[in-house]
Amino acid sequence: MVGLGPRKPPSRKGSMADVPKDLVEQIKRLEELFTVPTEKLKEITNHFMGELEKGLQKDGSTVPMNPTWCMGFPTGYETGTYLALDMGGTNLRVCEINLPEEKGEFDIIQSKYRMPEELKTATAEELWGYIADCLQQFVEYHHEGEELEEMPLGFTFSYPATQDYVDHGVLQRWTKGFDIDGVEGHDVVPPFMAALEERGVPIVLAALVNDTTGTLIASAYTDTDVKIGCIFGTGCNAAYMEECGKIPKLAHMNLPPDLPMAINCEWGAFDNEHKVLPRTPYDVIIDKESPRPGQQAFEKMIAGLYLGEIFRLVLLDLHDTGHIFEGQDMSKLKKPYSLDSSFLSAIEEDPFENLQETADMFQNKLSIVPTRPECELTRRLSELIGTRAARLSSCGVAAICKHKKWDTCHVGADGSVFNKYTHFKARGAQALREILDWPKSKRGQPDPIEILPAEDGSGVGAALIAALTLKRVEEGNHAGIRHPESLMKCIHKAKGAAKPSE
Ligand code: BGC
Repeated sequence: MVGLGPRKPPSRKGSMADVPKDLVEQIKRLEELFTVPTEKLKEITNHFMGELEKGLQKDGSTVPMNPTWCMGFPTGYETGTYLALDMGGTNLRVCEINLPEEKGEFDIIQSKYRMPEELKTATAEELWGYIADCLQQFVEYHHEGEELEEMPLGFTFSYPATQDYVDHGVLQRWTKGFDIDGVEGHDVVPPFMAALEERGVPIVLAALVNDTTGTLIASAYTDTDVKIGCIFGTGCNAAYMEECGKIPKLAHMNLPPDLPMAINCEWGAFDNEHKVLPRTPYDVIIDKESPRPGQQAFEKMIAGLYLGEIFRLVLLDLHDTGHIFEGQDMSKLKKPYSLDSSFLSAIEEDPFENLQETADMFQNKLSIVPTRPECELTRRLSELIGTRAARLSSCGVAAICKHKKWDTCHVGADGSVFNKYTHFKARGAQALREILDWPKSKRGQPDPIEILPAEDGSGVGAALIAALTLKRVEEGNHAGIRHPESLMKCIHKAKGAAKPSE
């Protein structure tokens, strides 16, 4: 077999011994398709660096490098009470966050609402209406009987948006399978605010925030070594702090050159031109059949939304070409997006030598009874897909560090794949070591650049960015704020509100 980095516990040496020759050949073919060797990682990283730099130079670049008007890190002494709304790919979450006097502390109360699948292809009005209903429910429940004054909100809208101000954002394109007409190319704030006004929900939008920027800020609030915020979840992306003088596309604004500006890279779009990423025929199908073909090339090889789908497409292909699941009912496996990345992770975690859990999962979820060699193949395939995702994502982290000439830093990372996909962290760390040619670290010593679990970026991070924005309004520094006057109105509310009860 081609060497592929860690194939960690449980150690199942010789488990391929009973696999028939035909399947061994198929496994070899898959290993060749999905393995990304060190040299390729380095090539991808170098190309990535150039693309990040292009994005800083010109609007409309492949990797958009969106300025977010989040200008600087928190001190740790931010205070007040803020609402945060997190519209991720899977759930909708409303939070009330209290930042007390104590450095780096926060209290949070929150409610999660399911984001109905149909909403992804609903009308814009239905989308904003649903979100406003959830916010209304939250506010009414937690502030029942109170005379409500306007509360400041950080809205985590985790899609690529062009921001001329922190409280503004024109959706560049939907990602993560969303496909709602009439939103792309428009500022999302006015229709969202209109839906709130219609319902009489007293909220002022202080900041529109990307989840990566929120992650960067929330993590830096508690760990000042954090310089990058990453999401490896349903989608995949990163943000970091740039100096305005190093963002040529903002030169016309004459901002002080050393003024910090968080950049939302939107690196999911990296290599939409297909120059370096080692795409397989399965990646090509994913792209072609997605609502936005030609977009998010990098994300489609890494993010949680797609890992299960890549796996499903490979298995279907192997069945159609007569290699596996002979005579089995394939109707369930034929359903697009029926497997999510947790299925692959669970296969990788099957502790039994005979892969009994894997067989049970196939039977329960897909009504397929796999043979033992077929289980071995699915195990190896899961490892290949999961390892490729982790290794490719490290190219993005390495590219930002190389661009910024950072030899050491912490990267705050969040998202279901990072937190739950088995071995993702270790595989990503291993790839970073290979790309950056670090000498073998001594036992127990941390790597110079470490990707660590982040603080809650979409909740606490959004609240902190709202707090930082209000602070700028208070200081009369209105750069990058569209409606300072309406923010003025809620400063006392943010500062004067009672601490939320648990
Ligand atoms: C979006 C990004 C987001 C990432 C992680 C991508 O699909 O374009 O804005 O940060 O997913 O949620």
